[in-house]
Amino acid sequence: MSRPTVFVARSIPEEALSILREYLDVDMWPDEDVNPPREEIIKHIEGKVGVLTLLTDKMDAEVMDAAPNLKIISNYAVGYDNIDIKAATERDILVTNTPEVLTETVADLAFALILAAARGIVKYDAIIRRREWKGAWKPMLFLGSDVYEKTLGIIGLGRIGAAVAKRARGFNMRILYSDVVRRKELERELEVEYTSLEELLRSSDYVSVHVPLMKDTHHLIGAKELDLMRSTAFLFNTSRGPVVDEQALYKALKEGKIAGAGLDVFEVEPIPDDNPLIGLDNMVLVPHIGSASRETRINMGLLAANALVDFLVKKRAPKYMVNPEVLDRHGIKRED
Ligand code: DGY
Repeated sequence: MSRPTVFVARSIPEEALSILREYLDVDMWPDEDVNPPREEIIKHIEGKVGVLTLLTDKMDAEVMDAAPNLKIISNYAVGYDNIDIKAATERDILVTNTPEVLTETVADLAFALILAAARGIVKYDAIIRRREWKGAWKPMLFLGSDVYEKTLGIIGLGRIGAAVAKRARGFNMRILYSDVVRRKELERELEVEYTSLEELLRSSDYVSVHVPLMKDTHHLIGAKELDLMRSTAFLFNTSRGPVVDEQALYKALKEGKIAGAGLDVFEVEPIPDDNPLIGLDNMVLVPHIGSASRETRINMGLLAANALVDFLVKKRAPKYMVNPEVLDRHGIKRED
């Protein structure tokens, strides 16, 4: 009997690939170093019933229409701003993602950025490597800012925001959060205070962004918001680049309106060589590595692979679905 065929848009960890190969015919994008261009995605998904995408693979209505048999898009990421969910739902295409397994790993990175920026770890490391650590030891040399007992503002108290709050508890920080919904249970559990975005920006020493990228969150942090922050405060983004207006951030950092920043994500990735943020030494930059621990990337792969196998072969609901309303159109019940 012929097996369902899926397009896998990138080479994925062997552990995940072997699950796919056990149950499905796999057409895998062969180039490790180049993202599949749009026209290649269109070519490869023709006739496929499933596709495993990464956050750089844009799945819009036109791409979906190139694959009339497509039933499922399994996204190897928690964020799914690369997928037009409305278009998928209209076409009865199920979309799945990989939350939870990466929560702690991303929160670790967010906290690492906070500590690194506050204490100048990257710029002082660079001083040693340039062999510039010379002269007398002075009390006011190589200073940074304390993190413990300071105020942390978390924008978006979802899974990752809450995991960052847990870490901040260990540093005895006051924790503020803003969100589109109030999370009273978490307020009690994590001792976090709900506040408006404006108040959070005004009152925090460290501001960490944890919202998904949507129309409403595009440039959520721009010139006006940065203006509200303290000149001693720091901004961190481990969510999606376009949530922060990079031009406004550059200006704020350059003019000393805020003290520093840490970014894992950028408006254009990979970051272009001429992005002026690269030239600033009051920021820490890392190349979208929030979920990039070996264990987590394997676990994300297992989730993404199992979503395809569950839905296409075992005819059951995958663990994490973005548009579960599509399920019954395929005669599959949601297991609660
Ligand atoms: C996600 O899962 O959305 C991350 O940004 C990808 O690592």
